[in-house]
Amino acid sequence: MTANWTTLRELLLPSASAGGRGRAVESALRTAIRDGQLAPGLRLPSSRDLAAQLGVARGTVTAAYGQLTAEGYLTARRGSGTVVATTLRTPTAAAPPTPATRQWRYDLRPGLPALSEFPRAEWVAATRAALTELPDEALGYPDPAGLADLRTELAAYLGRVRAVTGTPTDIVITHGAAEGLSTLAAVLRSDGHGTIATEDPGHPGQANLLREHGLRPIPVPVDCDGIVVAAIPAGCRAVVVTAAHQFPVGTTLHPERRHALLAWARDHDGIVIEDDYDAEHRYDRPALRAMQAMDPCRVAYMGSVSKTLAPALRLGWLVLPPALHANTVSRKQLTDLGCSPLPQAAFARLLRGGGYDRHLRRTRTAYRKRRDALLAAIAEHLPSWQPIGVAAGLHVLLRLPDGTDDVVVSQRLADAGIHAPALSDYTELGTYPGLVLGYAATTPDRLREAVREIALIAPPGARSHS
Ligand SMILES: Cc1ncc(COP(=O)(O)O)c(C=O)c1O
Repeated sequence: MTANWTTLRELLLPSASAGGRGRAVESALRTAIRDGQLAPGLRLPSSRDLAAQLGVARGTVTAAYGQLTAEGYLTARRGSGTVVATTLRTPTAAAPPTPATRQWRYDLRPGLPALSEFPRAEWVAATRAALTELPDEALGYPDPAGLADLRTELAAYLGRVRAVTGTPTDIVITHGAAEGLSTLAAVLRSDGHGTIATEDPGHPGQANLLREHGLRPIPVPVDCDGIVVAAIPAGCRAVVVTAAHQFPVGTTLHPERRHALLAWARDHDGIVIEDDYDAEHRYDRPALRAMQAMDPCRVAYMGSVSKTLAPALRLGWLVLPPALHANTVSRKQLTDLGCSPLPQAAFARLLRGGGYDRHLRRTRTAYRKRRDALLAAIAEHLPSWQPIGVAAGLHVLLRLPDGTDDVVVSQRLADAGIHAPALSDYTELGTYPGLVLGYAATTPDRLREAVREIALIAPPGARSHS
């Protein structure tokens, strides 16, 4: 099979006439092969003929053929000329299927920041600056505790914003809070822990993750003051809490409960894992300082950029008590040899230059408007639904009238294309009916529309005044 001249000219002439020099012909040929426009097995003209047809120097075509042969796109055989390689798998042919995700008309699931607000330009600038500054050695295997520069910036940032007392040497960089927690779970397991208390309601993914790493999660009830410390069962010496903004109820762990939890930890030689997942988003009054500041020897503090920048970065951190630090670093070394320094260096730049604080100020303003629009629409259209935990975060909990089946309501909304998870999905012990609604990723207008629709769709029992 020999290449058709008309096709070849159509594919290559624009690059040839746009200079024809340098890499233009090579790049056009590569694209045509990758896109399948020049099929495997196709014989290309000799470099002399193609150069004449395109009106470029023969050396340009010879160089392009040579480079693409070296890359495996072409094969050159004595006697049969230059042929498109038959072993080629075009990227489109090999692309794995992306998991089917349902397209919601209104996606109100909790936990997502506004991905459209990601500071792309600042991130590109920070990446470019970081890459320019990084010494060659930094491109070798990284420090499993994380890039020193980022740990320095984080220690300063967390001290300023969350009153966290750790120094750079107490910090370990992770692939998000999830990997921070799985690493800690493995460390606790090897220290003899068998169980760990988790908040109920709580994040079901978190319980699964702990189970997967050898610990048995024990659900402990949460009331309006946060986790009920007295209900942590005997024998359990570790607990995970979302003290700043309980997930998904949205309340703050009461100061007395904080003291009680730390006293419990001291009495039981225990450890408190403080999941500070969305503390930066607080709208009406300053956040209480992190629990870690109250007892750095008993609290392992955990954070990430998933709710502030984007979950896709998979970037988080632990600030660890001395007793856990060395084992956590060696576990990181054992399991993944550390996190990539490039995004760490970019994030360090963003912190140092104030870009992260500017981004948070922008998103906080946007999220407050979104929250206010959602609450106003609920007050107007669904007055018997009681919003809880509205002072912070990216979601609210709506308590439904007693007796409502929240799973039925959630399913009915899902049938109409509205993703609004039921509180029942977040509890093993059971609680009042509710919906957990994320608002950060939806504009005020869309939130108002969504609530109007929810009011029309929700079963009458769920709308009545309780
Ligand atoms: C309670 C809680 N903690 C932590 C996280 C963040 O996890 P990661 O940083 O691994 O994205 C989430 C995200 O959904 C969450 O809901």
